[in-house]
Amino acid sequence: MIESRWVFDDAYPTDILHRHEELNALSRLLKPATVGHRADDVLIHGPSGVGKTATARRMLRDLRQRAEVSSALIECSGKTGNEILHEAIEKYPKGTVVHRNQPRVELVATLEKIVTEPLIIVLDEADVIPDLEVLKDLFSVDLISVIAITHSNTEWLNRVDRDLRVHFHGDSQIEFDKYGVQELVDILEPRVEHGLTGDPTQPGQLERIADETGGVARWAIKSVLSAAELARERNHDYFYNDDVADSFEHAMQKIRKANLRSLPLPHQRLYEIVRAIGPVSGGEMKTTYREHKDAIFEGRGHDSVTWRRAWDYLSKMDDYDLIKMPGDTNAKVYEAVDPELEAPVEFDLRETAEISSE
Ligand SMILES: Nc1ncnc2c1ncn2[C@@H]1O[C@H](COP(=O)(O)OP(=O)(O)O)[C@@H](O)[C@H]1O
Ligand SMILES: [Mg+2]
Repeated sequence: MIESRWVFDDAYPTDILHRHEELNALSRLLKPATVGHRADDVLIHGPSGVGKTATARRMLRDLRQRAEVSSALIECSGKTGNEILHEAIEKYPKGTVVHRNQPRVELVATLEKIVTEPLIIVLDEADVIPDLEVLKDLFSVDLISVIAITHSNTEWLNRVDRDLRVHFHGDSQIEFDKYGVQELVDILEPRVEHGLTGDPTQPGQLERIADETGGVARWAIKSVLSAAELARERNHDYFYNDDVADSFEHAMQKIRKANLRSLPLPHQRLYEIVRAIGPVSGGEMKTTYREHKDAIFEGRGHDSVTWRRAWDYLSKMDDYDLIKMPGDTNAKVYEAVDPELEAPVEFDLRETAEISSE
């Protein structure tokens, strides 16, 4: 039934379908790099699972093949500004070995010295970078440009230093929307062809998957894999309708778990709070946050944040389908979507309340 699980992986290299406009915009902004100049900066934004990372990755691979353009994709979750600079140096092809705990100015000086051809740095999941000062450091190096990938453009830009916002003005923003049903079916077909043995799907099933997953490619792709897993478990030779029906939650559970694991520690602790106290009102959430703030940010490299910024953390977890919260959705309260799902952290609410009140 399953020929290759890798085909269903986020990092599986693939042709990008139905993103012509987005690819053209990206290509236009990055073009200066193909003739030795600094590329324009880009802000890619949109919901989780709609091809933001895959599209950027694909574009950079093409560019590297066509021109002397270097790029580094940095998964920002849980990384400090210093760690991001450090990774940029390590990933630069002419990079040198530097110590992780070198001061910021020295890391920037190293970048200035070694970057002699255009370098495009992708800051993936840039909304969870705790301190956006790192943008200033990156922009201070002549040939470095940035592609920031975020959930919401406005929330993120609000956190960017006023002087730096021009880097991500209107024309440099590329929005990624959810796919239409037929578009998503086209995206699913090659996965079925290369990832499964024979074609175990029945007419109309891919359309159903594309429809029920609301145009979110990751969910749809993982649902196909889940349907195959369920069919195999149940000794079916092909997808029964029940396998497809059960695939959505099966896939979503795995996605939620992976999303939660990918988040920085303070986000995970905050998630544990929502899980423990939800469903609660906004007011109660805010009060509880303040009570446990010290515990949430305990440890090296975590600076505690205001409630406004904690709200961004929560909103990221909403985008990741980990919690429901008042805001864009119809929810009236804060609560975990799946209260059974635990974050991989030791965090006991009663103990932390004592710690913070000490
Ligand atoms: N247009 C597309 N064509 C082919 N595959 C796609 C497309 N968009 C998304 N995918 C696939 O969907 C999955 C999720 O995409 P990803 O780029 O990781 O989403 P995001 O970064 O927006 O959360 C990946 O497996 C990716 O290859
Ligand atoms: Mg991504």
